Amino acid sequence: MRRYHIDSLTSTFGARIFGVDLSRPLEESVSASLVGDLLKYRVLVIRGQSLSHEDHIRVSRLFGEPEIHVQDQYAVPGFAQIVTISNIHRNGVPIGLYDGDNEQEWHTDLSFRPAMSSVSLLYSVIAPESGGETRFADTTTAYDDLPAGLRARVDGLSAVHSMVHLFERQAADNPAKVPLTDAQRAQVPDVVHPLVRRHPRTGRRSLLLGELIIRNIVGLGESESTGLLEQLHAHATAERYVYSHRWAVGDLVVWDNRATMHTASPCDRTRHQRLLYRTTVM
Ligand code: SIN
Repeated sequence: MRRYHIDSLTSTFGARIFGVDLSRPLEESVSASLVGDLLKYRVLVIRGQSLSHEDHIRVSRLFGEPEIHVQDQYAVPGFAQIVTISNIHRNGVPIGLYDGDNEQEWHTDLSFRPAMSSVSLLYSVIAPESGGETRFADTTTAYDDLPAGLRARVDGLSAVHSMVHLFERQAADNPAKVPLTDAQRAQVPDVVHPLVRRHPRTGRRSLLLGELIIRNIVGLGESESTGLLEQLHAHATAERYVYSHRWAVGDLVVWDNRATMHTASPCDRTRHQRLLYRTTVM
């Protein structure tokens, strides 16, 4: 039996958890319920938390071992596993990832790795009064809802995920984008992943997409590949599959990268600051 209260966020995915204080060590039964509820709901929202970096890492370990991000210049000093997500610039230099006014890019965290991440935990420290929501798409229900013919087609396809391609596309829109260093580029060769993956714990299938990070679908010509990717993206990000999280200070949002994708939303950084810390576990 659960030792906390839980409410659904949408009719297909996402839940809000009430009555859990993550700054204290959790009883084993509560930890097990949180892990089970993440598998069931795919996105968990836990508000009103007051977490130190140590707490953030301890809670992350309920789900797996936190990874060190390739852009290690944004790691929190002394906490290599925590990456800063922020639109704040100091001396003209961004202090974190997603620093621009328009960082919309549907993706699954670390899909540029051969072994992909399982879970991310994003904790809000400064919340903008306007904009900067994180939007989540239920790529599991979106897959289930595909017409049978299209489902059979995408089941057999794979796509190239490329961090280098992502940076090239972002730099085309934003010349101030800080490029990858040569050493960072060397760590992220292109990788191939199936377009549909089966969740290792639930067995459910979901679409594995990426708005800017996918270079192409293997074996298709350029226009066919682009057309199919656009069709799948439009389907998976239709409002009926999306939950948009408006941040408040102290929110922790935990999501299952094996069953969802997400994007930041525009935030005018001349008017509103945004600061969050993220761990991503493998
Ligand atoms: C992320 O992609 O992990 C961060 C999303 C956001 O900044 O809203």
